[in-house]
Amino acid sequence: MKGVILGGGLGTRLLPMTKVTNKHLLPVFDRPMIYYPIQCLLNAGIRDILIVTGGNNAGDFLQLLGNGSEFGLKELHYTYQEGGNAGIADALRLAEDFADGEKVVVVLGDNIIEKNIRKAVADFFTQPRGAKILLKEVPDPKRFGVPEIDGKKILSIEEKPEHPKSRYAVIGIYMYDAQVFDIVKTLKPSDRGELEITDVNNVYIQKGQMTYEILDGWWTDAGTIESLFRASQMIAQTGANKLEE
Ligand code: G1P
Repeated sequence: MKGVILGGGLGTRLLPMTKVTNKHLLPVFDRPMIYYPIQCLLNAGIRDILIVTGGNNAGDFLQLLGNGSEFGLKELHYTYQEGGNAGIADALRLAEDFADGEKVVVVLGDNIIEKNIRKAVADFFTQPRGAKILLKEVPDPKRFGVPEIDGKKILSIEEKPEHPKSRYAVIGIYMYDAQVFDIVKTLKPSDRGELEITDVNNVYIQKGQMTYEILDGWWTDAGTIESLFRASQMIAQTGANKLEE
């Protein structure tokens, strides 16, 4: 399986900090944000990693990460998203050649977790086809993609709903088989003008090929002023990307 980190976008919710640099280069506790998703994939045993970047200072990723030697890697792969505000699913399109028919674990570059996703990734490895998402109960589901759940089944996902149908958020770690690249090509931009990852997930749900697990340990995004601050606090208290079960 291969790993894809989405590190583009304009980071407008973090202005003025993102006026001259990319959101994923900002510090979270003691290191640049992009270090956390890289470690998350490595902890899951995924060492073949593509970073999709774009927007301001995209070249700084190369200077910061190089070939990934700091992480014990021989090489890292990079690609560049033109524009930068066409959505998560649009950025994912750029990973098609890299994936080369294999399953992928996609991590949003501003998502940070306390523990690790080894078990979920291993489960997805043996899943014959389809996709897997991870859910976490949150106090403010309206900010996220929110699933409607019936036992082991997800019925649908709504993006930032006014009236959430559960208390769970769909976190920004997604596992897909190679169908994902054909699905992305069928999407239409949402009201916010983006190709939504939630629309990709709903296609898998309609096909009856979506599984889910509840994430163990804390999860946060770091894409708003409050969540960026909270991420640093949580890491200071407990650490992130812990390897123990
Ligand atoms: C994105 C997704 C949303 C998901 C969230 C996780 O939201 O669209 O479904 O719950 O990431 O961080 P965005 O950060 O683009 O608003």
